[in-house]
Amino acid sequence: MGDIWRRLDDHRKASMGTRIADLLDADPGRAESHCLRADGLAFDWSKTAIDDDARALLLALAGKAEVEARREAMFAGQRINETEDRAVLHTALRNPGRAVTVDGKDVSIGVRDGLARMRAFADAVRSGEIAGQGGAFTDVVNIGIGGSDLGPAMATLALAPYADGPRVHFVSNVDGADIADTLKDLDPARTLVIVASKTFTTIETMTNAETAKAWMGTGVSDPGSQFAAVSTAMDKTAAFGIEESRVFGFEDWVGGRYSVWGPIGLSLMLAIGPDDFDQFLAGGAAMDAHFRAAPLAENMPVLLALVGIWHNQVCGYPTRAVLPYDNRLARLPAYLQQLEMESNGKGVRLDGSDLGRASGPVVWGEPGTNGQHAFYQLIHQGTQVVPCEFILAAKGHEPDLAHQHILLAANCLAQSEALMRGRTLDEARALMKAKGLTGDELEKQARHRVFPGNRPSTTLLISQLTPYTLGQIVALYEHRVFVEGVILGINSFDQWGVELGKELALKVEPLLKGQDAPGHDASTRHLAQLFRQMRD
Ligand code: F6P
Repeated sequence: MGDIWRRLDDHRKASMGTRIADLLDADPGRAESHCLRADGLAFDWSKTAIDDDARALLLALAGKAEVEARREAMFAGQRINETEDRAVLHTALRNPGRAVTVDGKDVSIGVRDGLARMRAFADAVRSGEIAGQGGAFTDVVNIGIGGSDLGPAMATLALAPYADGPRVHFVSNVDGADIADTLKDLDPARTLVIVASKTFTTIETMTNAETAKAWMGTGVSDPGSQFAAVSTAMDKTAAFGIEESRVFGFEDWVGGRYSVWGPIGLSLMLAIGPDDFDQFLAGGAAMDAHFRAAPLAENMPVLLALVGIWHNQVCGYPTRAVLPYDNRLARLPAYLQQLEMESNGKGVRLDGSDLGRASGPVVWGEPGTNGQHAFYQLIHQGTQVVPCEFILAAKGHEPDLAHQHILLAANCLAQSEALMRGRTLDEARALMKAKGLTGDELEKQARHRVFPGNRPSTTLLISQLTPYTLGQIVALYEHRVFVEGVILGINSFDQWGVELGKELALKVEPLLKGQDAPGHDASTRHLAQLFRQMRD
């Protein structure tokens, strides 16, 4: 591996002057050869500086890292999450027909049972057969955080055109503002609360769940009857007072940030209905099939990962912008933040050695065109290069507003073109001259209108944002993260880095209540003291 990394670094140094636009000019076939089509998706990576040599080296890196063998180990249910001694089988959730054995047991049986229970419950809630004390449920509140929130919240917004069930709301933050704002217009007698927590110990979720229970008690005589739970910890759900028939369990081989495909997706299923949820699963399963079967060079998640490795670990670009030109994908950047940064944000390899390279970029973004009027300035003219990942659907859901969709798409394509092309000083001078400027003023003004260009981007084109294509997109990114993790040699499936802050929060709490809490540093003690003073 070390040798390939070195050759990639050397190649990068030697090709620093390469202009992406020149690569496209030099190879008339590049636009097509660097646009992978699979199952209705098109992934264009022609607007990156990856030339033939870089591509060959990146593929060699994937080969040497044994991506294919690791991939099979994951699908086969091996315990590849070594630091937690767990299998990684979220793929089993979206392909309930595929038998997979863990500890001698075919887990697909449980997956099918779980799905059937979710379906029966969702159908009964949606039809009104299962109702609140005041009648059929009009609202569902999902209380969860991180992977127990971001997946269903992102997908429920993305699939709003398919929503024909009760209104679904999401509460995650321990900030009381979140739950207060959500509950204030709801009727307790017609609201179902789903407490979604893999561990059923997460302080934010359990605090909000208690608040919701108290609120429910203001409107109904038996608050527990309007609660459901999604968790791996059945003993704890019972202790909370949720009856067994309303508890949807899952196994420890489903990581939090990979859990939207199973019971954590219950709120999504309630919103869009079981049939559309099945379509979401089918899209994910189709991407799994592609990922398992396609050769590395024609494998969409692999190529997306290699582009990511090139930009972050080879070129050293510290961030990555995800820019969906789809307003309903507004939560996708936040979802991908957790997926990518919690999975690969690590400095130690599986064998305990130091990573020795960047552990992955800061992932961020907003839907276009809003971002264009906010932060694109920096992307176009700032001194840091920000690789951009555009996502665009060919068709919207508003036939009457098709002209707006064309405008949206034009903006998307124009941005990637502008990022690549830029504007030279001579072009800027010509513009200023046309405006009647001359001499020093022309020179000064022209410099402000120069765009360096040569800024890389990829574009993922989908036909339309449907349950199926959303499933494809989410699985695509999951496998991308996996491949990047394999190449870096890290475990993408644990998250020890979130523990320390959680532990300390419990120890800081007494300090804020004015209690004796030894062991804190002077800065933290001072801030706590100020906090107490400013509350008075
Ligand atoms: O932030 C850490 C984390 O463990 C995430 O990985 C997880 O998605 C989230 O907390 C919520 O955990 P739980 O589902 O156990 O409440």
